[in-house]
Amino acid sequence: MRARSRPSSPVTLWHLALVLAFALLFAVVGSGLVRAQEPARRSAAELMDVLMWNREPVGGPFSLTDHSGTTRSEADFRGKLMLVYFGFTYCPDICPTDLVEISRALDQLGPAGEIIQPLFITLDPERDTPEHLAGYVPLFHPRLIGLTGSADAIRQAADAYKVFYRKVETGGGDYTVDHSAYIYLLDAEGRYLGFFPPNTSAERMLTIIRSHLPRG
Ligand code: NI
Repeated sequence: MRARSRPSSPVTLWHLALVLAFALLFAVVGSGLVRAQEPARRSAAELMDVLMWNREPVGGPFSLTDHSGTTRSEADFRGKLMLVYFGFTYCPDICPTDLVEISRALDQLGPAGEIIQPLFITLDPERDTPEHLAGYVPLFHPRLIGLTGSADAIRQAADAYKVFYRKVETGGGDYTVDHSAYIYLLDAEGRYLGFFPPNTSAERMLTIIRSHLPRG
């Protein structure tokens, strides 16, 4: 009864502030729920910055399925330099261009290039099944291994390599995949050495790769 005689007391103002705070909280949580299916991802620019300035470790364990249906982990490639590329087979331009350059680099090295294991990890596991990859990777190089897996396994591998990718609907139920296109080089112990930007020529790749080949 005592409170009724003090309508504009600090308690009422505090109450109003609390209501506003809750309204704001619901707006924020609500908008978060709408996007809950696609959790917030780092932007392409942010990931590029991480790579450019070596801010975080790159690479790490993965378990994926190759284009012959065999489970492969990164440990299977110890003793080889890994040249890792993320893309998707329906990519109209940048993926094929980079894969051609990777293959040219390998061919120019001849037998010395056999210490290099080129890997193509799909960012479109929905369409890039092992069977589909089997019809794609040999078009570029006989030793190129295509890797796919569950959406989660691919996301995990891409996150480890700071790869940006995102499905973009193009209408009529069709879609494409926006993605960053770096070529990663790892040493024989699976340690990250660095990356080549998209559109790096075979010749440019070779100047770096040669310096990491075993001597003799
Ligand atoms: Ni591509």
